[in-house]
Amino acid sequence: MSSLQSMPPQDIEPYLADEDKKTILRFITCGSVDDGKSTLIGRLLYDAKLIFDDQLATLGRVGTADGKETDFALLLDGLEAEREQGITIDVAYRYFETPKRKFIVADTPGHEEYTRNMVTGASTADLAIVLIDSRQGILQQTRRHSYIASLLGIRHVVLAVNKMDLVDFQQTVFDKVVSDYLAFAAGLSFASIQPMPISARFGDNVIGASDSMPWYHGPALLDHLEIVEFAAVEQSKAFRFPVQLVMRPNAEFRGYAGQVASGRILVDDAVVVARSGQHSSVKAIVTRDGNLGSAVEGEAVTLVLSDEVDASRGDMLVAPAARPFVADQFQAIVIWFDANAMMPGRSYILRNETDSVSATVTALKHRVNVNSFTREAAKTLRMNEIGVCNISTQSPIVFDPYRDNRATGNFIFVDRVTNATVGAGLIDFPLRRANNVHWQATDVNKAARSAMKNQRPAVLWFTGLSGSGKSTIANALEQSLQLKGNHTYLLDGDNVRHGLNRDLGFTDEDRVENIRRVAEVAKLMADAGLIVLVSFISPFRDERRMARELMEEGEFIEIFVDTPLDECARRDPKGLYEKALAGKIANFTGISSPYEPPDDPELHLRTIGYEPIALALKIEAFLDGRLGTK
Ligand code: ADX
Repeated sequence: MSSLQSMPPQDIEPYLADEDKKTILRFITCGSVDDGKSTLIGRLLYDAKLIFDDQLATLGRVGTADGKETDFALLLDGLEAEREQGITIDVAYRYFETPKRKFIVADTPGHEEYTRNMVTGASTADLAIVLIDSRQGILQQTRRHSYIASLLGIRHVVLAVNKMDLVDFQQTVFDKVVSDYLAFAAGLSFASIQPMPISARFGDNVIGASDSMPWYHGPALLDHLEIVEFAAVEQSKAFRFPVQLVMRPNAEFRGYAGQVASGRILVDDAVVVARSGQHSSVKAIVTRDGNLGSAVEGEAVTLVLSDEVDASRGDMLVAPAARPFVADQFQAIVIWFDANAMMPGRSYILRNETDSVSATVTALKHRVNVNSFTREAAKTLRMNEIGVCNISTQSPIVFDPYRDNRATGNFIFVDRVTNATVGAGLIDFPLRRANNVHWQATDVNKAARSAMKNQRPAVLWFTGLSGSGKSTIANALEQSLQLKGNHTYLLDGDNVRHGLNRDLGFTDEDRVENIRRVAEVAKLMADAGLIVLVSFISPFRDERRMARELMEEGEFIEIFVDTPLDECARRDPKGLYEKALAGKIANFTGISSPYEPPDDPELHLRTIGYEPIALALKIEAFLDGRLGTK
């Protein structure tokens, strides 16, 4: 199952596996908060008598309790919390069928914050109903959702101009919205756009033709949904089978269980394990209800191979003639969901069909303006923004370009601490440099270099506010270590910002890059066998952890130089606090830019009442125990 897809697991399988082979149309509704999405779906289900009994009971109760008219939106806004807020906050999937077709609808929220759910719903949909409030016309949200729908591969749109009752069912209002939308959508890759004037509240043009709008000769919504032609499952697509489980009930049987992500597989077909390249062929396709001769996209099966191959959960069995890419650098379109902006250089967890790895955006090439589709220069992606990025993963992942395969071409970004899904990506192509640059093994290695210096390399990472005393303490410590014959180097924020990092300022994204570079330099210096002292404010936990993870186990020693802000401001060694407090320096740490203190540093130095030299000695004592420094 695609990482963007979140179908309720129990309900869907029997539904899809139903005997009769009606086509299944998956669609989403999108638009702004008050455009009436939930009301429309509620009306569709109600008028077509498609509502499940338990939902009708709820509707009756809610509808009568406060004496208000029946509110169809309540059918879909299942959660109490949503009801209170009056907006839909999660993707609600509904399954229904008519004599002609089956439908799966993802009711996606329209609130600005909820682009995440819209993306989740859209990644598997064939059609989008774009709802527009006839009184408002096209809004930013209409454009954003239409653009995302197009990016995610939705090819068919119903432009539902809603609330026609509130504009006296006037054709001119409808025509204006339609022409505005068609002009906008000319820049998107939709194959069909069917405009229709509706009133979800009163049912006009939802199930049957409306008496109030005799000027409209097009289809009603349900009629259109029943006949619209779309490319259903393409069995010609390359076979992709992510292994979810290796089944070994006994010594004789070994099968790979999973769901066919795309294409088709027949018994005797050749397969390859994508990452390792091991070959085999399919001996049997096993299901609970007996063996099959073939399996297609969406089917959950267990494949038995004719050879012993080394494949486990997270591997992918694929067609040998059409293999996916295996690479650790690629370009992707990223849609950002989180209130904390995406920062190039920051480490996130990237999850796709098979992998879960550390990843960073190495370059944000441009941001896309969803109104004009123009490219804009940007340093970060804020919530709901879309950009084209180069991405680097810690180890190679298996993928296809999204345009070739929606299931294996998408990924999500997960925050390392909160585990929240903060962004989604659609992969364009691997970067060639990923294939052409290899690690070069050298003969004189880290062990040889540190043995020659007769010391264990270390990275002593000083973090704290400006003026907290980091550099003074680091300087005293370095002198002392030198005197005893250690080989050291002190990387100081102010100094490195004169050279290597002179292009960086003090915005959050520049600080992330500042720390990324200095962490890489510290790693090289540790590799050279040195004891490296790094004295940077390094205000963010994420980047300090990234630096820690770059180093070998035990090599990174975080030293929190803890001086309260008012004490730093009182000392004000460079006169910067005075200026910052007077509003003359922007983004000043502790004043107009955040500082996140370490949760669990190796050393926590409270400086008030201590001389820098005493604190340096304290660190030295710690190092003697840890590193056996001389
Ligand atoms: S970091 O936040 O990116 O780690 P770094 O340690 O490199 O900062 O640089 C901090 C030094 O830059 C401070 O000690 C101070 O001398 C100077 N500086 C200038 N402007 C600022 C600012 N807006 N915020 C913090 N430090 C600043």
